[in-house]
Amino acid sequence: MKIIAFLNPKGGSGKTTAAINVSSCLTGSGKKIAVVDTDPQMSLTNWNKAEKAEFDVYTAASEKDVYQVRKDLAEYDFVIIDGAGSLSVITSAAVMVCDLIIIPVTPSPLDFSAAGSVVTVLEAQAYNRPVEARFLITRKIEQATMLNVLKDSIAQTGIKPFKTAITQRQSYVKSVMEGESVFDTNDGAAKGEIAILTREILELFE
Ligand SMILES: Nc1ncnc2c1ncn2[C@@H]1O[C@H](COP(=O)(O)OP(=O)(O)OP(=O)(O)O)[C@@H](O)[C@H]1O
Ligand SMILES: [Mg+2]
Repeated sequence: MKIIAFLNPKGGSGKTTAAINVSSCLTGSGKKIAVVDTDPQMSLTNWNKAEKAEFDVYTAASEKDVYQVRKDLAEYDFVIIDGAGSLSVITSAAVMVCDLIIIPVTPSPLDFSAAGSVVTVLEAQAYNRPVEARFLITRKIEQATMLNVLKDSIAQTGIKPFKTAITQRQSYVKSVMEGESVFDTNDGAAKGEIAILTREILELFE
């Protein structure tokens, strides 16, 4: 079992949307997936109110639940952790237990500094437990200047970005609102980018 955590204490960076869609894609490829919602606002738990998800959703009440994940959810192929929208003890717990940290960042210039907090967490933990981390550009828009600034900022951290980005699309917003993923829509471009991103993620575990 491998644990992948979507973490960025900056609210609204696309963690939950990315976690839902990547988890849906992994489930579609036959993997047994559990998603752990660590956000006190419980967006992912609420997203699954109508229980349409084809993967299992757990809600972590405290960092203790997160520390237990490797033992409690050992039967799954992947456990996906959806991080909280603020820096908390739960974020540190997720850093400690996971095999891969994915840091979603948007091309908004104001967003990037908060990702710095995750980088700090990483540095602090690195002494005891080096963990693989990747940036994931989300809500990508075709605005070259903003994208280049973001790419430069990412390059300066020494943490690599995924080659595949998640584009800003209505289908992400609409499907999540309906308790679904883009795989329940006919947006082929969205499904395609999530599939390629998921393959990139899986390659890290080969
Ligand atoms: N690829 C996308 N295209 C369009 N809108 C998006 C995309 N990804 C996220 N959004 C929108 O941006 C907002 C924030 O996204 P999301 O809830 O996934 O972020 P988050 O990091 O989980 O936020 P929080 O920190 O509050 O948990 C939501 O309104 C969501 O619908
Ligand atoms: Mg969220």
